Amino acid sequence: MVRVRVLPDYESMSAVAAEIVAERVREKPGAVFLLPTGTTPLGMYRRLVQMHRREGLSFAQATFFNLDEYLGLPPDHPASYHVYMQEHFYGLVDADRARIHVPDGSAPDPEAECERYEAAIREAGGVDLCVLGIGRNGHIGFNEPGAPFDSRTRVVRLAESTRRVNASDFEVDRAPERAITVGMATIFESREVLLLASGANKARAAAAALRGEISEAVPASMLQRHPNATFLLDRDAASPLDGAVSEGEQRSNEGSTWA
Ligand code: F6R
Repeated sequence: MVRVRVLPDYESMSAVAAEIVAERVREKPGAVFLLPTGTTPLGMYRRLVQMHRREGLSFAQATFFNLDEYLGLPPDHPASYHVYMQEHFYGLVDADRARIHVPDGSAPDPEAECERYEAAIREAGGVDLCVLGIGRNGHIGFNEPGAPFDSRTRVVRLAESTRRVNASDFEVDRAPERAITVGMATIFESREVLLLASGANKARAAAAALRGEISEAVPASMLQRHPNATFLLDRDAASPLDGAVSEGEQRSNEGSTWA
């Protein structure tokens, strides 16, 4: 059963997400995290950086993996997820470089890089908390519709719609064609999953993931089977679920329900 928490807006969703990550690292300083890039988690990272600066929240013993990286981009390319993570999180807290892992999109042998990455996650003892965004087509990581639920870290072809949505990070009208992504099974094996969705343009995907049929056509729907998954939605992303969230919860500042 997926837990669903509906927050009034993006800022409060980000605050709750940051508090959950902070709580996990306080409980277990050596926790293993699997993290997203994109627009959605920016507020969460901003708050985690603040907590590090103001309260001394430490990430020094934690291990970090990223969900994905574009194929063909060197780690110093401005649109690479290496640079994104450095600028928004890893470079602003006390994360230990030796415990930060982002797939190498410029590896000469991408298949070998995927195997190495998957093995590194295993060797770290698996993932304690996986934080996800969601694509408008229901993708998680870069597992596009049709991604097998038993897939592992691998090279994938991005959907045309994803390449267009992500084009603004590049000087051309499309993001790269291919990427490395952590697989569906690897995500599913995380001991806890937290999916963030904000804004009306995520509402259909979030509703399909939570209430639709469990199907590889909507990758995030796999999470309905996860024993410890939470969706944090702001009110716009939750709008099609209105009937499913009780009146009292809708009125309260922070609603919470079970899908
Ligand atoms: C990126 C990732 C993607 C994004 C998704 C939503 O690392 O894993 O699945 O989470 O494309 O992106 P935004 O947050 O930019 O809407």
